[in-house]
Amino acid sequence: MRIGILNSGGDCPGLNAVIHGVVGAASELGWEVIGFRDGFEGLLPNGPGHIKLDTERTVGILKLGGTILGTTNKGHFAAKVGVDNIAKVPPEIMDQAKVTIKYLGIDALIVVGGDGSLTTCLQLCEEGVPAVGIPKTIDNDLDATSMTFGFYSAVGTVVDALDCLLTTAESHQRVMVVEVMGRGAGWIALYGGIGGGADIVLIPEIPFTLENVAHHVNRLYTHGHRSVLIVVAEGAHLEDGGLMKRSEIDEAKQQVKLGGIGGFVAMEVEKRTGHETRDVRLGHLQRGGSPTPLDRILGARFGVKAINLIKEKRFGRMVSYQSYHVGDVPIQDAVNKLRLVGPDCEEVLAARAIGISFGDK
Ligand code: F6P
Repeated sequence: MRIGILNSGGDCPGLNAVIHGVVGAASELGWEVIGFRDGFEGLLPNGPGHIKLDTERTVGILKLGGTILGTTNKGHFAAKVGVDNIAKVPPEIMDQAKVTIKYLGIDALIVVGGDGSLTTCLQLCEEGVPAVGIPKTIDNDLDATSMTFGFYSAVGTVVDALDCLLTTAESHQRVMVVEVMGRGAGWIALYGGIGGGADIVLIPEIPFTLENVAHHVNRLYTHGHRSVLIVVAEGAHLEDGGLMKRSEIDEAKQQVKLGGIGGFVAMEVEKRTGHETRDVRLGHLQRGGSPTPLDRILGARFGVKAINLIKEKRFGRMVSYQSYHVGDVPIQDAVNKLRLVGPDCEEVLAARAIGISFGDK
């Protein structure tokens, strides 16, 4: 057996752990592994190509952030146009990919990706390519899996940042606003905020008002606080406002760059409360660095599960994490549906119970 693996979309801590898991499990079975470079682009005859992966090549990669294969979130295989629409990968591109797969004697393909990449994977399956998917996103917003690797590493970065910011905020009696990633989902902000002791967490799923935020800040200072920590998800928005964007729609990636809400909230809080306020945008720090032990273990387990799915010839399936168990679901069930934070979910209720405000009341 010779299998191919590619990762596509934004990088994510734990991708190398998946590769480590796939290569380790495949080697035990005597299978060969080919890694395609820079996402699906590696499947094109004149693309970035591929490398042979074996256990010698993968020694020491577990602890590395990013991906040794390279990745891209744009290119010829984009199956998504905007949030809800699905575009068909052009037939001539599909044909070229199939020729490469046949030429290299690839018996099965593993695609590690988020919503868009798994949609492309599904289209490859429909074209007769035996493929399985592994879910990947720091945003933790893929449906049909309760967790993706990379999420806790990103949350760790947020928590570390809040730990650092608290000491300087306390010294100067300041408000600190930290903008975090997550696109339309507030998971990173919510978990990072709870874990890092934030006082206010603003997420896309719970629209906020500046009056409520300012009121809570004043209340905390009145009750003796020397500082206030606010975590804002990049997709958070006012009850009556739209998203803050750093770009209009990027034609190549078909999505806007979000960002700027942290600076806006900081400016308004200072204006409305009179308390000195600073803001920090964590940006791609959340995607970089070494994966946490949990993400390494999850990544490796996902890789092993993908090999088992191939062994059982269960193509068109996506590895899925549910209740401490690594199972699988049809790829179809996982794509085009985002798993957002429920405004009354247990984590939100727990956050409220310990005094965190979401700026909605
Ligand atoms: O989806 C992962 C993510 O990191 C989002 O949280 C963020 O909005 C986006 O990717 C950033 O993408 P890029 O690396 O293209 O700027």
